[in-house]
Amino acid sequence: MADLDTLKETKEYYLDIPQKSEAFFLKGSNALDWGMQNRLARIFNPKTGRTVMLAFDHGYFQGPTTGLERIDISIVPLAPYADTLMLTRGILRSTIPSSSIQAIVMRASGGTSMLKELSNEAIAVDIEDSIRMNVAAMAVQVFIGGEHEKQSIINMTRLIDQGTRYGIPTLAVTAVGKEMVRDARYFRLATRICAELGAHYIKTYYVETDFETVTASCPVPIVIAGGKKLPELDALKMAYNAIQQGAAGVDMGRNIFQSEAPVAMIQAVRGVVHENETPEKAFELYNTLKAEG
Ligand code: R5P
Repeated sequence: MADLDTLKETKEYYLDIPQKSEAFFLKGSNALDWGMQNRLARIFNPKTGRTVMLAFDHGYFQGPTTGLERIDISIVPLAPYADTLMLTRGILRSTIPSSSIQAIVMRASGGTSMLKELSNEAIAVDIEDSIRMNVAAMAVQVFIGGEHEKQSIINMTRLIDQGTRYGIPTLAVTAVGKEMVRDARYFRLATRICAELGAHYIKTYYVETDFETVTASCPVPIVIAGGKKLPELDALKMAYNAIQQGAAGVDMGRNIFQSEAPVAMIQAVRGVVHENETPEKAFELYNTLKAEG
């Protein structure tokens, strides 16, 4: 018990210093509840406002993707370099050490395989299980213009409602059907619909032309997926251009885990995202780290 004899009588209330009321650092997120903001601050680094998400949830519809055959061997060593791990609950529980400190973004939609119509998804994780796994956000695929567009949008809004009850943000992942054109016009439409309906941040693809109009017209943060494997310098250029044109980070999978040197590549991506490193400088870093093995 505290020793009452030593209690000081004098107190300092700093009457001349008003209590600070700081704005939250993330675009469009100022009116969110404390728990929601705290989770977002685990995903996005408060110093840079950006995130490097390592995406390895591909197996939820396409099985053991190249580079993800053994996640314990190929991905677990990369985790310390990521701000956030994007994955399925099966992989989290079976393969990721529970001592990991990275924010977890849980794939929460599913129900189809690459052999069928992909847009025919449902919510695939109970909110209680997301809470149990201490996730920082839940991710849901949204198929704007797809065959099951409405169903996928309702999956998103249900997840947002459930997450809002417990302070868990929702990441809307814009999925583009094979027959659709991947251009700024499409991504403005898709990202804006997701944001208007309450998604807390949105994943989309980078496009060479007018990407800044996609980030400008979306009122919440955008992160870009990496897409198909590119030569490392090209992937770094894409990440750099996206960041300079308003993206708040990357959610990158194949361009990291299918790289010849994944540990070097994720560090080069970090340079571009968090330190505004040019692609050429980041590529130098990649080559140096790769040579060091
Ligand atoms: C699709 O399977 C997932 O949403 C991936 O997380 C997303 O496509 C990012 O991975 P990648 O950079 O390989 O495209």
